[in-house]
Amino acid sequence: MAQAPNRMENLGHQIFNDRALSEPRGTSCADCHVAKLGFAGNNGSKIGVARGSKPTSLGLRNAMSNAYTAFVPTFHFRVEGDDVDAVGGFFWDGRADTAPTQAVLPFLNPLELNNKDAASVLQKIASAPYAKQFKDEFGQQIFNNPTLAFQKVGVAIAAFEKTPPLQAFSSKYDQFIQGKAKLAPQELNGMNVFMDANKGNCASCHTMNPNSANPKDSLFTDFAFYATGVPRNKAIPRNANPSFFDLGLCGPERTRPALSSNVPASVSIEDFCGRFRMVSLRNSAEKMALMHNGFFTNLRDVVSFYATRNSDPKRWYGPQGVPNDLPVAYLRNLVNDRVPFNRPASAGPAMTPREIDDVVAFLKTLSDAPANQPPPPPTPPGPAALNNPFARNQPPPPPPPPPRGPVR
Ligand code: HEC
Ligand code: HEC
Repeated sequence: MAQAPNRMENLGHQIFNDRALSEPRGTSCADCHVAKLGFAGNNGSKIGVARGSKPTSLGLRNAMSNAYTAFVPTFHFRVEGDDVDAVGGFFWDGRADTAPTQAVLPFLNPLELNNKDAASVLQKIASAPYAKQFKDEFGQQIFNNPTLAFQKVGVAIAAFEKTPPLQAFSSKYDQFIQGKAKLAPQELNGMNVFMDANKGNCASCHTMNPNSANPKDSLFTDFAFYATGVPRNKAIPRNANPSFFDLGLCGPERTRPALSSNVPASVSIEDFCGRFRMVSLRNSAEKMALMHNGFFTNLRDVVSFYATRNSDPKRWYGPQGVPNDLPVAYLRNLVNDRVPFNRPASAGPAMTPREIDDVVAFLKTLSDAPANQPPPPPTPPGPAALNNPFARNQPPPPPPPPPRGPVR
């Protein structure tokens, strides 16, 4: 197995892949963050939300990518003219402030790695093959101070998350902006539609700059929060309750953030309910589930949704044609004021089927070269990963929307 170059990074890599650090044993961070699946994946669950270390545990949200997370800014409110946006923080709801504080939370989440407390995680680390490395790095007495030791677990994982394989910038797009590759005509057209303020307008949110050879100018997110109206994923267990809604910034996984002093008094935290953090589109073509609730299973459906949310809402929300994953009181928080979401239904789809295909082709150029992705976990997959009874017994994901005829 290729080793990460630096000691701390290497330690973080081992902790990230250690299947002993779950209860019951057998699941690691890497089971929900698989390089080949866009650094995401739901540990064998097919319903759009992650399965935990207990085979019966189904999570609440779709796993995010842990790649390119070194660029996530701390949570804050950004005020630009009349626009007030929440930006940054880790998780779909921005509830963790830094990479090291985020990195220890999955160990204790009952629906993820399910350890009963920090002490039990540390106990396992103290008897792991890399225990000596941990002490050499953080002090021979480190295990005598459990609070500090647990923080250091997060520090090591965060160091690993900054290594080149997790921010490879090795995609075809990166080669293209550096003049080392050409995009095919379809990909180039897709990029134009993606950037066209009257068509996809994707780049107004998923920020990029193809004129800069620096790939950090093209992260394909500015980390702001929006309610885009993603349809409800009825396969999520807690969604069986019709009055339950995941409100992102307004909980229930977090307490509502306090508005900072730069936010005008006319703005209330209620205006942010139902909003989720935008993610980078790098490697999104590799993901098995997309969006915070994992409703979508492929990019074509996502781009079709953007094109037709306003013109054909019944396709996404059923006979009532009203966004169905937000309480009525918060429908006003939906993005309605910019392309492609500002169109009256009568204006038709924002993109033609062909333009949709082209955008998908462009999005595929954002996947990193497989050669640059991290090596597989050091231990072979356990029986749970190979034969996941849970995934089999679950209801199938929501049926794909019916095929459309040519768009007028
Ligand atoms: C059971 C599946 C599962 C496991 C195991 C898991 N994660 Fe995750 N990860 C998720 C889910 C789901 C989210 C989104 C959760 C949310 O928004 O509430 C997430 C989010 C993240 C994010 C946030 C990315 C961003 O852009 O904000 C990072 C980083 C991350 N995980 C790292 C880790 C690390 C480190 C571990 C091991 C300590 C780990 N994960 C274990 C499923 C998992
Ligand atoms: C108003 C800002 C905005 C615009 C415009 C926008 N997006 Fe997004 N995008 C978001 C947000 C916010 C999310 C996460 C939403 C969620 O999960 O609830 C997202 C999620 C996505 C995802 C899922 C990524 C993943 O890993 O799950 C894809 C793919 C995507 N957008 C593609 C596009 C394309 C293509 C366009 C243009 C047609 C576009 N977006 C336009 C804000 C925007």
